Amino acid sequence: MRVVVLLCKILGRFNRARAARLTLPHFVCETPLFMPVGTQGTIKGLTTNQLEDIGCQIILGNTYHLALRPTSELIDELGGLHKFMNWPRALLTDSGGFQMVSLLHLADITEEGVTFQSPVDGKPMLLTPEESIQIQNRIGADIIMALDDVVKTTITGPRIEEAMYRTLRWIDRCIAGTDFEKLIFFFSRLVHTGWDFNDKNTYIGYHHLNKCGYAAHKRPKEQNLFGIVQGGLDPVLRDICVQGLVERNLPGYAIGGLAGGEDKDSFWRVVAQCTASLPESKPRYVMGVGYPLDIVVCSALGADMYDCVYPTRTARFGTALVPEGVLRLKHQSMADDTRPIDSTCECMVCKNYTRAYLHCLVTKDAMGSQLLSYHNLYYMMQLSRNLHSSIIEGTFPKYVCLLTYYTIVPSH
Ligand code: GUN
Ligand code: ZN
Repeated sequence: MRVVVLLCKILGRFNRARAARLTLPHFVCETPLFMPVGTQGTIKGLTTNQLEDIGCQIILGNTYHLALRPTSELIDELGGLHKFMNWPRALLTDSGGFQMVSLLHLADITEEGVTFQSPVDGKPMLLTPEESIQIQNRIGADIIMALDDVVKTTITGPRIEEAMYRTLRWIDRCIAGTDFEKLIFFFSRLVHTGWDFNDKNTYIGYHHLNKCGYAAHKRPKEQNLFGIVQGGLDPVLRDICVQGLVERNLPGYAIGGLAGGEDKDSFWRVVAQCTASLPESKPRYVMGVGYPLDIVVCSALGADMYDCVYPTRTARFGTALVPEGVLRLKHQSMADDTRPIDSTCECMVCKNYTRAYLHCLVTKDAMGSQLLSYHNLYYMMQLSRNLHSSIIEGTFPKYVCLLTYYTIVPSH
């Protein structure tokens, strides 16, 4: 019998915004939530105890990086990523394709998967949807992501359509990839049906399997597979992708291919369209999004989960997140400023250190980026908590007004 591994209970709403409780195998999370990115199994400069202190609920890991080092086989052998990195709460792994395409210029996407040159020995390698799932199964995160064909939203033309349909075809291989016996059967059918596509660019094999009743929507036993909506800025393609994924009845859905250089209006429009037709009872995750303003807007549009390197990356460059926007600690005016980063912040850094001290450390000592990362992630966690409680308490518009008064109007 299949165990239910994700429960999504909506605790409160304000128009389209939702505050929910997600029960995952390792942690009960409250949404809206922000997930810090721990590419190599660590959030640079912070211990997992510190991450617990600031109220972090889920950390994101990347399949591509972890598969290269220390390898998914070793993580599996050592008891999974939770144990390996000493993180008792929830984990999510991204499927790897996006990182390859964005990091390796030589990556090439074919129907089989993503081919790339190994950064270790330069040999050509192939990451297929089945393999991505197998690697993510070994890593053992609470939420695993389907391998998708990602195209920047600034690219137009037939490539967007191709990527969206391929993402839909790959979701079936990801679903099948979660079950070894079914995978063998799936491949025997593939050989039988061939890699055929009908005139709607739909993968015929899937429909054959469905007719035979063998493409039941399997899940990994202790993991939740999320599908990713692609389709660029085209509402028709986005709609086809949403409908296709919803038919597969997955535990959750992500909205991908955004925050890649498109204007905010187009980005928010895509989020609004997707959240309007995704099921109410399942979590919605907007990938790669992490500016506070975008999180507030996307939450107002009914999204629940976010991830981004921004808060920790910008910390390493000496920038702190504050209600007014950002504070650049490198600036000469900080040299003798005895105030904390933010007098309204209750984090360990703001309680104990002055701007002058941080000015002295930033870019010169690792402690500078560690302290700023701590504050910035605390800021993101506090933002998530405030969104959650204001939606439940019915004060969401008031909270948003207060926040955006500072961040949107430049004169303040
Ligand atoms: N991270 C940010 N955007 C994306 C996306 O579209 N797909 C995947 N897999 N990861 C992402
Ligand atoms: Zn602080």
